[in-house]
Amino acid sequence: MANTILVGAQWGDEGKGKIIDVLTEQADVVVRTQGGNNAGHTVFIGKQKYVLHLIPSGILRKKKICVIGNGVVVDPVGLVSEMEGLRKLNIKLSGNLFVSETAHVVFPYHRELDAQREVLKGKNKIGTTKRGIGPAYGDKAARVGLRVIDLINEERFAEKLAIKIKENNEVLKAFGAKPLSFKEVHSTYRKAGDYLRPFVTNTVTLLHQAIRRGDDILFEGAQGTFLDIDHGTYPYVTSSNTTSGGACTGSGVAPNRMDRVVGVLKAYTTRVGEGPLPTENAEIADMLHAMGREFGATTGRARRCGWFDSVATRHATMVNGIDDLAITNIDGLDTVETIKVCIGYRDGKKKYDYMPNDVEVLSRCVPVYAEFPGWLTPTDKARSWKDLPPKARSYLKAISELTDAKLFIASIGPGRDQTIFV
Ligand code: IMP
Ligand code: MG
Repeated sequence: MANTILVGAQWGDEGKGKIIDVLTEQADVVVRTQGGNNAGHTVFIGKQKYVLHLIPSGILRKKKICVIGNGVVVDPVGLVSEMEGLRKLNIKLSGNLFVSETAHVVFPYHRELDAQREVLKGKNKIGTTKRGIGPAYGDKAARVGLRVIDLINEERFAEKLAIKIKENNEVLKAFGAKPLSFKEVHSTYRKAGDYLRPFVTNTVTLLHQAIRRGDDILFEGAQGTFLDIDHGTYPYVTSSNTTSGGACTGSGVAPNRMDRVVGVLKAYTTRVGEGPLPTENAEIADMLHAMGREFGATTGRARRCGWFDSVATRHATMVNGIDDLAITNIDGLDTVETIKVCIGYRDGKKKYDYMPNDVEVLSRCVPVYAEFPGWLTPTDKARSWKDLPPKARSYLKAISELTDAKLFIASIGPGRDQTIFV
């Protein structure tokens, strides 16, 4: 499998968790490189459902080394509770899970500030997951963050935390929010730090040892291309680089050590939170929600839904260097008579065959659609490419051509066996 970067090619929730789980079978090491517990990766093994937020989905397979890289922001209390959850399910963590000592730590004041800033923004809110992701990355960039290496050093941690709480309480007071108690935060975080200490290491040298051994590494992306802090629909984005470059900076593995990029996308489009979604469509949203699909794994929010947007996914191919496509949720379109695909945008008289950077312009854009006949047949039992209805195959081929990358996986349900290698 070589070293593979897996990214979301849309707005997140493309079904990366499942594809990662499938690809992990051939990998030795799985690494998370950005984001925090804003992510929600859902994996079904048989009837058992697992939702992972910080721990790489690879942990669900035996004997895989799972790494939380330096580019991730770690909520230690959240991480401990996720680890406890997995231990209850008899999943082995010790010797399999490693946490970077240079990953930044998310604190309660980050979460509180995240919530307060959203309130202040009013109707212009981002619709964040309120996990403190933006403020935590903000501190990292401003060079005032605390890292895992600080968390596990008792003396240093108490000293640094005291200063941070004092400073942030002033800000919280200005927002009219309740100040935090140093004692409470300190004792909760100390406990989490003690729990995590045996898992904390220099993950850069660990990954390079793996590379020298000839191990295959899977870099597990979280969120999606259009939530990228640089390449997404700013400011309606998350605070990390969700595109393939983030896998390098967030792990310490250089671009020339990477072998390929897999882009995961849905056969239609979804988005949670605010911001432009050109192909948004109420009918398809109602249909998918009525099927019990498209509710967020982290916040439970109903996702916004729309037709497939090939202008967007072609852009994703460019900025990520996507070689191969994994198209998921194909079965979600099984009952649609005429399927639309966005092949361009129109803003008044102006036509676009690329995504305009100005979110105000993008919000005004009306999609130009091509139509495809629906296959009107259940696809969830298909196990090979030729089991798929010819109309479904034509649709998938068209998506791949428009997106400008090779069709690699067609996924027709959440199960491991509902995965067709094309
Ligand atoms: P934040 O990452 O919590 O700051 O949220 C910023 C934006 O990214 C919001 O629109 C969220 O809904 C969205 N977002 C964050 N994480 C995910 C994810 O894992 N899947 C889908 N959307 C996400
Ligand atoms: Mg998700």
